[in-house]
Amino acid sequence: MKRTSAAICLFTLCATVLFGCVPGAGSAQEPPEKTVGSPIVVGFSQVGAESEWRVANSESMKSALSEENGFELIFDDARNEQENQIRAIRTFIQQDVDYIVFSPRVETGWTSILQEARDAEIPVIVIDRDIQVEDRSLYTAYIGSDFRREGETAVRWLESLMQRRGKADRPLRIVHIQGTVGSSAQIGRTAALEAALERNPNWEIIAQELGDFTRAKAYEVMGAILEETKDIDVVYCENDGEALGAIDAMEEAGLTCNAGDGVIVISFDATKLGLTYCLAGKIALNVECNPLQGPYVADLIRRLERGETVEQIMHVDETAFDSFTITKEMIEGRGY
Ligand code: AHR
Repeated sequence: MKRTSAAICLFTLCATVLFGCVPGAGSAQEPPEKTVGSPIVVGFSQVGAESEWRVANSESMKSALSEENGFELIFDDARNEQENQIRAIRTFIQQDVDYIVFSPRVETGWTSILQEARDAEIPVIVIDRDIQVEDRSLYTAYIGSDFRREGETAVRWLESLMQRRGKADRPLRIVHIQGTVGSSAQIGRTAALEAALERNPNWEIIAQELGDFTRAKAYEVMGAILEETKDIDVVYCENDGEALGAIDAMEEAGLTCNAGDGVIVISFDATKLGLTYCLAGKIALNVECNPLQGPYVADLIRRLERGETVEQIMHVDETAFDSFTITKEMIEGRGY
């Protein structure tokens, strides 16, 4: 790794000048030399700003990889285009940054650019969404969510609700609003729903549309669905923005959203705004997707700087909230 060897050379030079050869100096307990001198330069390609979640994720990265913490962050917003992300990563390589971090729009199409980063000996950290590459060693680590597990949490909750109500075998008419197709957030959450449909032959997807993880798009597609039918039991939205847009459309159409006698809305993210809707009963279940990944990235880089071996896959901690048990206090204490 280019920077680690540079740090080692720098350390060797300092050690020779200051202490002669002192084995063990510069051990894991000490701050990286570069936090004292030059900052660690990190190029970060953020996928966009499509949701509240994404804004919180960008803020988390900016505050963890700050100057005070010994970093220089070069932030690039790809405006939801993979091409822009590839271009930004190539620019980071030309700038010879110390680390490249990116949150991929979709899982595929990264092999060539990662090969370029490897040729330039720049370590790459993937955050938020995962990628699919044949050679996993093309990137150093992935820090993000286990999206399939998030989806499992949602569908198991729905199964258990139906069982408690003695309705496990009744037909369940589901509207599915998907996130950005090909992103691991969409793939994992969709896969869990599809597996639940296999287990529950009485569950039926009556409409499946793309909401692009945005409130505006979900409002639009939900409005079109409602022109066809209002006979809906569940709306499974793949993030809070979509849930809010779908709720707006349903309320305008005269439907009530709640886990009692209304439409059951399931969402992901658990942002403060999303949880406010959960507290009001409009979102029945909100599965957390934790955007506060900056500190994990900063910690990982520090460990790499110290020459430590790191896990290649790290999932962030996540939980879930339902409208039966959520309290105001739970929302107030949250960071996003
Ligand atoms: O990849 C995480 C997803 O992307 C979040 O659920 C969503 O809000 C965001 O835009």
